[in-house]
Amino acid sequence: MTKARIAILASGSGSNAEALMTHFATGPGSEVAEVAWVCTNRQAAGVRARAQALGVAESHLPKAAIAEGALLRELQARDIGWVALAGFLLKVPADVCAAFEHRMVNIHPALLPKHGGLGMYGMHVHRAVHEAKDARSGTTIHWVNEAYDEGDILFQGEVALQPEDTPEDIAAKVLELEHRHYPVVLEGLIRMAQGTDVRDNTHLKSHS
Ligand code: GRF
Repeated sequence: MTKARIAILASGSGSNAEALMTHFATGPGSEVAEVAWVCTNRQAAGVRARAQALGVAESHLPKAAIAEGALLRELQARDIGWVALAGFLLKVPADVCAAFEHRMVNIHPALLPKHGGLGMYGMHVHRAVHEAKDARSGTTIHWVNEAYDEGDILFQGEVALQPEDTPEDIAAKVLELEHRHYPVVLEGLIRMAQGTDVRDNTHLKSHS
């Protein structure tokens, strides 16, 4: 079986991207897929150094080039089969959404449909959870479509919050969940698509 080639789209620090790169470089994940490319829209994104340190090809594509079709061209030229968004702050162009339908996932740092949508990223999300005095937060992994944070939900992981938790405490709890679950959930999806689903994926739930 040919290994699936994953591209990661990221705009920031890239800690989730690193968790994915590490997972698919070693262990059971490496049997089915590899991270073949990291793409960022921000010249100075921290994710670039993380990719370089792990020997993964990385590129900076400016917003205008992405909007003009360069992202889809690069994905096709690099023979990419799956796309994982990990803190990617641009809207994914419609041509990429169409070409990677049900092969492109995003991770959101809250329990969608709460605290999602335009402007809800990074600490904005955790401050909203804090202000709402939610007893729980978590992470949502979902298919990507043309609307922000509205693709079908594939997985949610939850964490209990304490009244004294600050937005920074909430962010740290959620990030730990994300690093733990995102690589395993993506591996499960790829295995199911390949028909090599030998492990228990009952933690994946579809809301289609
Ligand atoms: C994560 O919390 C993810 O849910 C969101 O953006 C954040 C990216 O963090 N989409 P990092 O760059 O992976 O550290």
